[in-house]
Order: sequence, then structure tokens, then C-alpha cells
Amino acid sequence: MIVYLNGSFLPQDEARVSVLDRGFLFGDGVYEVIPAYGGRLLRLDQHLDRLEHSLDGLRIRNPCDRARWREILEGLLERNPGDDRSVYLQVTRGAAAKRDHAFPPPEVEPTVFAMVTPIAQPDPASVERGVHAFTYDDTRWSRCDIKAITLLPNVLLRQQAIDAGGQEAILIRDGLATEGAASNLFIVRNGVMTTPPKDHRVLPGITRDLVVEIAQANDLPLVEADIPVADLLAADEVWLTSSTKEVMAVTELDGRPVGDGRPGPVWRRMHVLYQDYKARLREVAAG
Ligand code: PDD
Repeated sequence: MIVYLNGSFLPQDEARVSVLDRGFLFGDGVYEVIPAYGGRLLRLDQHLDRLEHSLDGLRIRNPCDRARWREILEGLLERNPGDDRSVYLQVTRGAAAKRDHAFPPPEVEPTVFAMVTPIAQPDPASVERGVHAFTYDDTRWSRCDIKAITLLPNVLLRQQAIDAGGQEAILIRDGLATEGAASNLFIVRNGVMTTPPKDHRVLPGITRDLVVEIAQANDLPLVEADIPVADLLAADEVWLTSSTKEVMAVTELDGRPVGDGRPGPVWRRMHVLYQDYKARLREVAAG
């Protein structure tokens, strides 16, 4: 695998980062995960807008302009051919001469790293089985809108769900369901979709926004509003969205079936519309 590190494309096992890098010492950095279908990056501008927002939030200078980001990411895809893939990119505050919580001097350059990972298309049986999720207290900080590499609570919460026999954690803050450990949340009640508004409590998911747009374009009723835990637990359908997992139906929550325990009718409609969107993207890519 060829990766990108600080200006060069090189084999992954030759890529080296200093042990003084602030990403390594402090988790002081941000990241993006961008899917590519038919070699075309999905919603690159929106991902780069969010990257900018995350960098601003941490007061890290954006080391590349838009054209340069495009060049790096498309260059990586060219060097790592394949079907559906996602690009992971990470920017840290760089490596200073000594470990110090305070920011390093301005001449310290941010570290830029990017790599490509295949997106495994889930088999129809597992799509049909859906995701089993558990609700846990949201133990993260108060700037969940920043896509920081500091992911300890997310890691621990996801693992807690896996240890309990599930696949994802749904997080609860002040009595409200916010999002998954690595995904955004939608519920459906009486045919109406609800997803929490984009504020400091959730990551502004690109897939979430796409689902909202698809719903609007197809006159499917959707509101952006808080989701009290009681509404989550009483929902007819629960979904999770992310760049790598797309739109997943949650079929079991805290050990109890959601609806009849199978992906619901509104999810089925959205799943088809989402796959259509991807197919159009592939067609454009193929010219
Ligand atoms: N995670 N919420 C959280 C906390 C996330 O980590 C993610 C994505 C999302 C969904 O965002 P998007 O639709 O833009 O992928 C929501 C990525 C995929 C990850 O950490 O690997």
C-alpha cells in the first residue's frame, strides 16, 4: 500500500513519524474519512469544509489549499487502485523539540498523513440482519462537532457494545440520544424521520446530510430535532449512518427488537435511494 506523508507518496512500511509528534503524545490532531466510488470522492468539498472547521476548532493551520488536498487524495487513489475505497486523512499539530502541552512555535509544521482502505460491501444477509446496538452515557467532551483523532471515549464505548454482543453504541447525553460512537443517528416514528440538529453534541456527518437531502428531494417527512431516550426506545425504526457503513438499520437495541426486529419500510426506501445516488456517482466517474 502506498500512503502519503508530509509531501511524499511512499510504501506504508517506509512511512515514519517522529515519537515527538503531538498526534502520538497528545492526540492533538484531526481527521477525515472520505469514501470513493468508481474512483470518485464522495462530497469532497463538504469533507474539506468539515476538515477546515475541525482545524479551526483546534487552532491548527490548514497546511494545504483545496487544490492541493484534491491532488493528494486523487493521487493516493491512483496509486492504490481498487473498487470502493475510503481515504483516511489526518493532520496533527506536528512534532516540537520537546513535549509541552502549550502549542509549539509557529515554525513547527503540521504532520499530514493519508492512506486508502477498501470499503467492504456488506453481504445482503448482514444488511438484512441489521445492527445490534446498546445505549450508554456519552462520556465524550463538549466539542463533538470537531473530528479530533482523540477518540478514547468512542473506542471504549464501541468496545463495550461489542463485548455485550452488539456492533455499535448509541450515546445518551442529558436524557437525549445524540449519535453512535462512530455514526449519526436517525429514528422513524409514524413514518417521520428524526435526526438530532447539528451542534456541539454531534459530529456533522456528511452521510447524515446526504440522507437529509435525499429525504427532502423525495418528499419523505424528516425533522431535525432532539431525540429523548424514550422516543429512541419507542421508535419504529432506528438507523445509523457513516461514510464507511452508509445507512444501517438497528434491529436490536439494548437486547430488545426494534419494530419487528427487521429493517423497516422507511429504511428500505432510503437504502434504495442511497444506492441509486452511489450508482449515479459511479456513472459520472465512468464518463
Ligand atoms: N466516523 N459521528 C461520529 C462520532 C463519527 O465518528 C462518524 C464517522 C460519524 C459519521 O460521519 P460521516 O457520515 O461523515 O462519516 C458520526 C468515521 C467513519 C470514522 O471514525 O471512521
